[in-house]
Amino acid sequence: MKETIVSGIRASGRLHIGNYLGALKQFVDLQNAGDHNCYFFIADLHALTTPFEPKELSQNTLEVAADYLAAGIDPDKATFFLQSQVMEHVELGWIFNCLTSLGELQRMTQFKDKSKQHRETINGGLLTYPTLMAADILLYKPTAVPVGDDQTQHVELTRDLARKFNNRFGQTFPEPKTFLRKPLRIMSLSDPMKKMSKTGDDPSAPLGAGALMLDDPPEEILRKLKKALTATDAKEKSPGVANLFLLLDHFGTKDQIKQFSEQQKKNTIKYSELKETLAHQIADHFGKFRTKKTQLLNNPTQIKNTLVTGAAKAQKIASQTLSEVKQKIGLLRSP
Ligand code: TRP
Repeated sequence: MKETIVSGIRASGRLHIGNYLGALKQFVDLQNAGDHNCYFFIADLHALTTPFEPKELSQNTLEVAADYLAAGIDPDKATFFLQSQVMEHVELGWIFNCLTSLGELQRMTQFKDKSKQHRETINGGLLTYPTLMAADILLYKPTAVPVGDDQTQHVELTRDLARKFNNRFGQTFPEPKTFLRKPLRIMSLSDPMKKMSKTGDDPSAPLGAGALMLDDPPEEILRKLKKALTATDAKEKSPGVANLFLLLDHFGTKDQIKQFSEQQKKNTIKYSELKETLAHQIADHFGKFRTKKTQLLNNPTQIKNTLVTGAAKAQKIASQTLSEVKQKIGLLRSP
């Protein structure tokens, strides 16, 4: 039997190259390797824990779904769905809420950070984020959960919950491992001391100037790269230059990498040339992606149908786990 992996995706809108190299690409590779049963879902219920606008939420969800599908998530190979369409997530989440102490939830780093950021709007969902996440995971009884390093504490809580549950109610859940993504930090083009993100750049720069979005057209990629910060008075590579080289490692040819590294050592490098090469390579790399994404977004009904089919597939497994849980904890079931 194949081992199962589960991972959730934040529904925060269009994805950038940092998201792609850090997560999306890994999911597609795992799916294509074919040795795992893959469950990937968009965590739209988790998106409600921080301030949101209804129109943006649905549009962002569609965008992220299109990004994943265009990048190669194949609904025939992986189970791809929306969290909010498999109600078992919420039901098991509630049960887990009742098995988790308030102290444990209050100690979570993400809760502490986010409640500082959103001081006026701390809601119950922010506190119980990890129990919903534990339900997301354990419903599918996976052996591993691919996440970024900011999520390891949540996976630990999931393991603790699984262990506690098994001890008290009988063996039910595996204790899934964290499958850490390669730590990879693509930095902002406009502020290379910060991680690439759609927001959070230099506030004087236009929004998103530091991030290359996956569907940016070639001229936009070139424009953003041309503006990328490289200046420094240090002899070493500046953070901005190091970031360009990191991108070149992923998108350049062997010859290009060699050529620019040598020029860098000899101090003959022209950053404008490096940037143009990179822009060309990146635009090329995502050419098919852009076409596919445009096609997908022209037909949102098709995306929605794909998600509904995925949810039905997920629900088959989720409902089995949930009824096992209900029985074990003593909820009376229909005869
Ligand atoms: N919390 C995860 C993140 O912010 C998203 C997520 C929700 C998730 N549920 C999950 C990840 C279950 C892995 C498994 O990235």
